[in-house]
Amino acid sequence: MEVGGGVRYHMDWGMKNRMSRIINPETGRCVMLAVDHGYFQGPTTGLRNLGKTVNPLLPYADAVMITAGALKNWIDPTMNKPVVLRVSGGNSMELPDELSDEIITTNMEDAIRMNASAVTCSVYVGSPHQRQTIENLAKIVNEGNKYGIPVLAVTAVGRRLSQEGGKDAKDMVRNERYLGLASRICVEVGAHMVKTYYCEEFEKVVEACGNVPVVIAGGKKIDEIDALKMAKNAVSAGARGVDMGRNIFQSDCPVGMIKATRAIVHDNATVDHAYEIYLEEKARSSGR
Ligand code: 5RP
Repeated sequence: MEVGGGVRYHMDWGMKNRMSRIINPETGRCVMLAVDHGYFQGPTTGLRNLGKTVNPLLPYADAVMITAGALKNWIDPTMNKPVVLRVSGGNSMELPDELSDEIITTNMEDAIRMNASAVTCSVYVGSPHQRQTIENLAKIVNEGNKYGIPVLAVTAVGRRLSQEGGKDAKDMVRNERYLGLASRICVEVGAHMVKTYYCEEFEKVVEACGNVPVVIAGGKKIDEIDALKMAKNAVSAGARGVDMGRNIFQSDCPVGMIKATRAIVHDNATVDHAYEIYLEEKARSSGR
């Protein structure tokens, strides 16, 4: 695969084929829909009936990030979108100070049986179980390389780090120093894609990841216009797209939000134009 910087990045055919199902080869970008939240948040707002929320969004997503259980319960196996299967878990919102205590929950054979196009796990840099989560990543990277399954590494922030930061918690982890460190560690371990949060000077995070595509998480629900601005800033800084959840499915018009996000990611739409797309869809759906 010819990738940034003129460097030839060697991947086998299956790996390349799966990557190109996720990252559109025509635009080099991706709108991934993240609906894996239940693995530690339970029936979170918008995903109690996951199928009802997610199925109408699938036509506009390039890929869906989801757990094995949610896939089997709520998604029809005839759907034809690439699955990025979350294979880590073991934590919950009930034990918030130890979010980093994750294990691998789904093995590679199961992922292959479910026709996963990629697998994903979280890495908690700076948290008590940092080493364990890096080990989880290393394990699935090694198995992924064996079977041609790409791995998306998620840079997750443990509760302890946030709490120690007090009111400055966000500043401690929403900056290029921390996110660059966490993302680069994932790259060094061999992740094929990285999902991280957007921050100021995001181009430095992207640069630190070399040829490995970087996508952003949406984070907690914010105003639609602000989420679209964030997506625009991220792709302008070199992100290959988004892997967004709450800012799509918790919107008052999820279809409008995913269409607007697509326009930014794939068509280089301005934020104003994308917001118009969202408003139009919202007006259309409320007039029904
Ligand atoms: C946690 C995750 C989430 O489960 C999810 O994918 C995040 O998406 P968003 O922040 O856009 O709701 O990866 O680390």
